[in-house]
Amino acid sequence: MFKFAALLALVALVPSFASAQVQLYGQCGGVNWTGGTTCVSGATCTELNSYYYQCLPTASTSASTTSSTVPTSSTSASKTSTGTSSAPSSTATAAAGNPWTGYQTFLSPYYVAEVNAAVQNITDPTLATKAAKVANIPNFTWLDEVAKVPTLGTYLASADALATSSGNKQLLQIVIYDLPDRDCAAKASNGEFTIADDGQTKYFNYIDQIVAQIKAYPNVRVVAVIEPDSMGNLVTNMSVEKCANAATTYKACITYAIEQLATVGVYMYLDAGHAGWLGWPANLSPAAQLFGQMYTATGKSPFFRGLATNVANYNALTTTSPDPITSGDPNYDELLYIQALSPLLTQQGFPAQFIVDQGRSGQQNLRQAWGDWCNIKGAGFGIQPTTNTGSTLIDAIAWIKPGGECDGTSNSSSPRYDSTCSLSDALTPAPEAGTWFQAYFEDLVNYANPAL
Ligand code: BGC
Repeated sequence: MFKFAALLALVALVPSFASAQVQLYGQCGGVNWTGGTTCVSGATCTELNSYYYQCLPTASTSASTTSSTVPTSSTSASKTSTGTSSAPSSTATAAAGNPWTGYQTFLSPYYVAEVNAAVQNITDPTLATKAAKVANIPNFTWLDEVAKVPTLGTYLASADALATSSGNKQLLQIVIYDLPDRDCAAKASNGEFTIADDGQTKYFNYIDQIVAQIKAYPNVRVVAVIEPDSMGNLVTNMSVEKCANAATTYKACITYAIEQLATVGVYMYLDAGHAGWLGWPANLSPAAQLFGQMYTATGKSPFFRGLATNVANYNALTTTSPDPITSGDPNYDELLYIQALSPLLTQQGFPAQFIVDQGRSGQQNLRQAWGDWCNIKGAGFGIQPTTNTGSTLIDAIAWIKPGGECDGTSNSSSPRYDSTCSLSDALTPAPEAGTWFQAYFEDLVNYANPAL
């Protein structure tokens, strides 16, 4: 069965030379679609929603069309999850314990390509040698716009094929990051969907497309970080009008994402800010209540494994000499934050496990203020990904923010300009959020701790 599925996927990857045919994972229909509607051999045009039909491998198509969990246009358009409905029953069974156990982490082809290109631009051979090693360190693939979702299918196909050829089961790491009115308290990462322009429906469609692709590769394990910054903003930034307006939509979208991703067996960690945000004593209880609410609303699925901290931030996992900027917060590093939050989550009935981003935490005492988050100067790659975390609460130390991708532009004329990205502790000039920032990458390599 497994080999059969893999074979079909490989057949589907053979390119077609008939120009009228739509390639694997290409769009092949939907409202107002004027392009091709016939897929290459081995793929079938499948309705994901009324706006989006996609060429999926024939093996996966039969799986998804016979399943009632793939929403049709009418159901996806009418879903308005309030967080009170019961979650759809999962078709997958969660494994007990740490999801990384027994799996090899698949390297993100997107990040590998970015790093390989960056290495070509480094003239110092010693630095280039170190930089090249970064391509072999697992990172997360950020699905930060719906146009990137089809690449997920190709990565899943590659991971599936690699598992077959190597005999090592593969685990693929993704970040779900496309909320309407995203990044509501800052500007640098404003996203493509707005609540005013039916962003909730578009977000549900984005999730539906991700779910359809993951469903086609049941042998590849997927771990997802859910919506960086979202919950943190709902805890501390409700005085910001955009955040207050977004609260209901954020909850509905994240509830939908967790419920749907659970049906295809994705292990999820909802973003929980970091020690300098939700780790302040006054924020811990409200945060725990919100996380408990989300856990209950999504049916307490074992696939909703816990929380992710320090995503794209710079805090140490542990330190014996707290950075002066942390003064006043007894939870001055990520482990202290996790240890303080965990019992409060337990009280809420949420037995959360954690993962912690250390991708840019190699150097400390760099920031003028703990709230500074943009392209911090002097940052280095940190502890490399491991499940040997030193804490039973922490499943994995990970590199979640792809080091070298920018946090936000320093160009003050950009619509996504956030003045945080021009502070004296931010490296400038910096390009748009998510795009490659070569000088920053080279610094991360140079200042890596442990050294590369
Ligand atoms: C950006 C995203 C990007 C992510 C990872 C965010 O700050 O807004 O576009 O994918 O960082 O680099």
